[in-house]
Amino acid sequence: MTMDAIRQRFLMCRPTYFAVDYAINPWMDPTAPVDADLAIRQWEQLRRTYLDLGHEVDLIEPVAGLPDMVFAANGGTVIDGKAMAVQFRDPQRADEAPAYRAWFEAAGFEMHDPKHVNEGEGDILLAGDHLLAGTGFRTAHASHAQLQEVFGYPVVTMQLVDPRFYHLDTALTVLDERTVAYLPEAFSPGSRAVLRRLFPDAIHATMADAEVLGLNAVSDGRHVVLPAQATDLAAKLRDRGYETIGIDLSELRKAGGGPKCCTLRLRQGKASK
Ligand code: ARG
Repeated sequence: MTMDAIRQRFLMCRPTYFAVDYAINPWMDPTAPVDADLAIRQWEQLRRTYLDLGHEVDLIEPVAGLPDMVFAANGGTVIDGKAMAVQFRDPQRADEAPAYRAWFEAAGFEMHDPKHVNEGEGDILLAGDHLLAGTGFRTAHASHAQLQEVFGYPVVTMQLVDPRFYHLDTALTVLDERTVAYLPEAFSPGSRAVLRRLFPDAIHATMADAEVLGLNAVSDGRHVVLPAQATDLAAKLRDRGYETIGIDLSELRKAGGGPKCCTLRLRQGKASK
């Protein structure tokens, strides 16, 4: 089987002001040390990996006092040239929303504003012709209807049940139009049944893979960039013909984030979905 890489356009935010100053998910311990310089070097490695793969990386200016702004996936949802801005659950991240919104507007995307809590691509993943939308911890279920209305893709609600996997992108990764990998235990029984129905050939990750944020991966359809520690998942991906690239983001993981969290996909128009 030959697998085609699709050239991507990503938005990233340098972790200039990264820190773990508060705890809004179980990974965050404000008393544990974080090596801020190492965080920046690890993030640079991720960005370099994308550039070496031939992808385009846009950068948004980091804002002082917003330590989680590096997690660009939470800045919006961008599909077919439309950008849905975000509304964070937690006040600590609220000011990131207008910063990202201004970037999308300046970049020429058609803007839509959220009516409910909506944490962008952290919880909303385009998988083929379906928008998988997480809820349970962050993004409000009510926002799913708005997403369907704005983007015109059928939205499939995914109920997350484990607080460690608080965003959909910590529990499921989209590999290509037809294939996903996920941690079954992170989902309610009904959502698991839906995933089996939609993706009968999905890769099931182990808890050990998920606990190193292995599912927080970025695929271009051929190459999968994932945390280096997720070795079982990487082996399963290679069995299916993907090329895996392990990245160490140990410092950002202390905030509960991995490669995908640092990466927002910008989907220009119908042609480059
Ligand atoms: N500390 C951030 C938060 O809890 C991490 C966000 C990770 N982003 C993601 N797309 N999963 O909001």
